[in-house]
Amino acid sequence: MTHTIIEPFKIKSVEPINFTTREYREKAIRDAYYNLFLLKADDVLIDLLTDSGTAAMSSRQWAAIMDGDESYAGSRSFFKFEKVVKDLTGLEYVIPTHQGRAAEKILFTTVGGPGKVIPSNTHFDTTRANVEFSGAEAVDLPVASALETDKRADFKGDIDLNKLEALIKKTGVERIPLCIMTVTNNSVGGQPVSMKNLRETKSLLTKYGIPLFIDACRFAENAYFIKTREPGYASKSVTEIAKEMFSYADGCTMSAKKDALVNIGGFLAVNDSTLADKARSLLIMTEGFPTYGGLAGRDLDAMAQGLNEVLDEDYLKYRIRSVEYFGDKLEKEGVPVLVPTGGHAVFLDARRFLPNVPANQYPGQAIAVEMYIEGGIRSVEIGSVMFGKEVDGKFIGANLELVRLAIPRRVYTQSHIDYAAEAIVEVFKRRDKIPGYRISYEAPYLRHFTAHFEPVLKGTVNE
Ligand code: F0G
Repeated sequence: MTHTIIEPFKIKSVEPINFTTREYREKAIRDAYYNLFLLKADDVLIDLLTDSGTAAMSSRQWAAIMDGDESYAGSRSFFKFEKVVKDLTGLEYVIPTHQGRAAEKILFTTVGGPGKVIPSNTHFDTTRANVEFSGAEAVDLPVASALETDKRADFKGDIDLNKLEALIKKTGVERIPLCIMTVTNNSVGGQPVSMKNLRETKSLLTKYGIPLFIDACRFAENAYFIKTREPGYASKSVTEIAKEMFSYADGCTMSAKKDALVNIGGFLAVNDSTLADKARSLLIMTEGFPTYGGLAGRDLDAMAQGLNEVLDEDYLKYRIRSVEYFGDKLEKEGVPVLVPTGGHAVFLDARRFLPNVPANQYPGQAIAVEMYIEGGIRSVEIGSVMFGKEVDGKFIGANLELVRLAIPRRVYTQSHIDYAAEAIVEVFKRRDKIPGYRISYEAPYLRHFTAHFEPVLKGTVNE
């Protein structure tokens, strides 16, 4: 009996990757001020910065692209796309956008504003930024287990229902236009939300007349976790499970750059016709006419095809297992990883990895720099660089110090992952010699994208 779970595809087109020397990488990262966002992608060997917009499209998606209809209004591609989204989500009004944050911007411009409060299991950073930019407050209510990186639990992405009800009572229904559930919950490690939690959230919100929205970027990965972990779902198809998830939603935002397997695209879908009308008016001002919404017709075709392909269970089995394989390999070597492994990424726990580097010297950034120098691997710090701040000269760190190794869909093979794991283990072995960093330049918003760093070298003026 064979037991290896293999890539459920063969490769028709390849893109070379560039090998560099350690000396070259030391200079490249220094020239990039130790910020991996400032590297040239050509200087990266294995790029695990994000799983967003980095998927390999299938031959059928490329074929669909040739069939795209570029009409300004009433494009055939739109109707094909609309049908796929309606069949999947059951939502009535489908509004294409160029990516997820454009859908968020339109949604929260419409329902947000000063005095409003938006609860969530955890807002992704662009969601939070769009809520706050409208003047509203974004409140994260993850379950307690979400912060325990070394404890396994099946559904660490859930929302804490007691906290949600307490928030509703304290804030008042009229100030809460909707609650948004992020599936899977990216910011706590790509952890899934259970069907039970979605169902109970819906029934609690219904009691108060508050709509439930889903941030659906990774809905298929979430559905697969429900199938394999939640009692009662093993014999259901992933499509049926995904449809049940959406049946609790009054609307959704989607970055198609994840589970629609495309390089660009997104949408907003809602049941409320008044909300849809307002959203379309904004769409026309900022994105485009409602039958293309900031995209080319061909992009809509690729999304429609991708949304069907992502629900293929052989694909999802390979996808979830290959991410878990990476996490398992690191865990076996003693590298501190967040467990269980999430759907789209392996997260290193930088606090446990580099206990001697304090939060205000950014241990996650330090590990990310070393992984690049060691193996040309690009990752992203999700800790105090991203979420830390200074208030009245006092450093306030993030809840968790993580480094995310996000796996692009259908792009890397098992040997790429084996190589990456080997390089990370090498970094872990020399962890005592890794310096912390200080920020020498930062922008007023979203500083992680452009910040400059310098190493804090022991025994120098820099310490
Ligand atoms: N919601 C979630 C949960 C996300 O992970 C992202 C993007 C967005 C919304 C915004 O979508 O990029 O299409 O505008 N996440 C990427 C990441 C950027 O690397 O995790 P977008």
